[in-house]
Amino acid sequence: MISSADLKKRYLAFFEKRGHKRIPGASLIPEHDPSVLFTTAGMHPLVPFLLGEPHPLGKRLCDVQKCIRSDDIEEVGDAWHLSFWEMLGNWSLGDYFKEEAVSMSFEFLTEEIKVPVDRFSVTCFAGDKDAPRDEETARVWARLGVAKNRIHFLPKADNWWGPAGQTGPCGPDTEIFYHTKDIQEKSTEEFLKLSNKGPFCEIWNDVLLQYNKTAAGKFEELRQKNVDTGMGVERVVAALNGSDNVYACDTLAPILDRVISISAAGTAKTDRHARIITDHIRAAVMILGEDKGIVPSNVDQGYVLRRFIRRSIRHARMIGVKGEFCNEVANAVIDVMGDSYPEIRKNAKRIFEELKKEEEKFSIALENGTKQLEKKLQLLQESRQKTLDAKSTFDLFQSFGFPLEITAEMCKEKGFSVDEAGFNALMKAHQELSREGAEQKFKGGLADHSEETTKLHTATHLLNEALRQVVDPSIHQMGSNITKERLRFDFNYDKKLTDEQIKKVEEWVNNVIKAEADVSFEVMSVEDAKKLGAQGVFEERYAESVKVYTVAKGNKVYSREVCGGPHVKNTRELKGFKILKQEATAAGIRRIKAIVE
Ligand code: ALA
Repeated sequence: MISSADLKKRYLAFFEKRGHKRIPGASLIPEHDPSVLFTTAGMHPLVPFLLGEPHPLGKRLCDVQKCIRSDDIEEVGDAWHLSFWEMLGNWSLGDYFKEEAVSMSFEFLTEEIKVPVDRFSVTCFAGDKDAPRDEETARVWARLGVAKNRIHFLPKADNWWGPAGQTGPCGPDTEIFYHTKDIQEKSTEEFLKLSNKGPFCEIWNDVLLQYNKTAAGKFEELRQKNVDTGMGVERVVAALNGSDNVYACDTLAPILDRVISISAAGTAKTDRHARIITDHIRAAVMILGEDKGIVPSNVDQGYVLRRFIRRSIRHARMIGVKGEFCNEVANAVIDVMGDSYPEIRKNAKRIFEELKKEEEKFSIALENGTKQLEKKLQLLQESRQKTLDAKSTFDLFQSFGFPLEITAEMCKEKGFSVDEAGFNALMKAHQELSREGAEQKFKGGLADHSEETTKLHTATHLLNEALRQVVDPSIHQMGSNITKERLRFDFNYDKKLTDEQIKKVEEWVNNVIKAEADVSFEVMSVEDAKKLGAQGVFEERYAESVKVYTVAKGNKVYSREVCGGPHVKNTRELKGFKILKQEATAAGIRRIKAIVE
């Protein structure tokens, strides 16, 4: 039996031995990046370095990254898909490429964790107008001993990865599939029928990140050819231990057991509802456990979180779970995840409180909303219609808090469908009316080094310091999100700033702009950075050496902060700084939105 902890340890040691420096995993909530809601892969926090910025630790890196993907939410409950999971990754930033990447993956699998070569299949990119067929990678696999009938060429839909948001690094990939049973596929068609179902699952993806997708949808060759790999911890652990589903992994099995123990007698371990609750409550705990204080809401990360919790509540009712249960399952999550992610122990009180609040809010709404929906479906039945209209679906959202997928699922179970496009149009119109939704959310991202965002990155450092100078020395950054149009900065403070304070903060920043201070960086050890008094809130993710940006005029230092950049060269480029608004986001956390001129 191999445990998750053991696999992670062996993977990191294997790559460290081969010249990779271990970096700490990042937060689930991306820093500075408005183009995605969650960290969806290990490569995501590394985007600036994949685009060519030198990484302080060199060209070979490895880590364990916690990831959330909510796109696959419909598939969760099957054998292999999860919304939250741990990803092992190794990277070459313009160093090794295909041959070495594939050879190392092969060696790790066959020698380190002893997977027999006849237990896996691989896929390579079939080629199209954007990039050629990847015969080279296929040749490496064949040379290593993978049988011809186990090497499949597939098109972009299957064998291309990225970008993580709308733009950025991407490229053809080569994927490794594990057969939990001895099955010899005879053709690519047969492979496709089996993959990610039952006994066959993708365990590792080696992406040959050699293109940058531009906002215009073009694939430009990157100056630097990178390798980005991702291996799913839960899948590998379950598969290696001979299971045909991911819930056998030691970071899921005890949670599933807890769910089964509170459900109606006879609920099986393969029950889809029980699996969904297991996955969703784990994801919710991991989001709530972040230091950034995300709580259930109707926008952004808070909405995804809300959907995880509400969906769990509905599925719990379907397997006879009575009364409140989220905290009981959350306890099991903290037990299995708390050693690797101490933040969830630290924030346990908030996790329990928020789950309880959401559960109280939704339990009654679920009952009443279900009654309302059943009435509507009855009417549809009588008039021989099959689709629930957009307005009714939207009413269920507004009056009872039913996310689309809950209504869609309930309809499907009774043989009806919903007008999803119509619902989405109503939702969009609704969000555009609200200020949050009107923001240009999906532009920019970590791949965006435009003049506008660069200026806002520097302005963020100045604002961070100004708040400490003017308002309270214990203030620090809790989150940052930058689009081309504005910066958004979250910090720990429990009172509304007075108009006077806002004015003074603006003045402080504008004085540094007027002073024409230089912005420069130095790579140094974390210890030296601390000695210098550099700000670095997200310390848990910093590696042994870091990049420290300093804003100074001669000997006068205005700000010093650990950061990946990009930044302007001199503060005069910012011209002027203005705070647009302030608000509270969660208890003890305030948010400022500001612009530069
Ligand atoms: N970034 C790649 C993935 O997520 C490795 O599959």
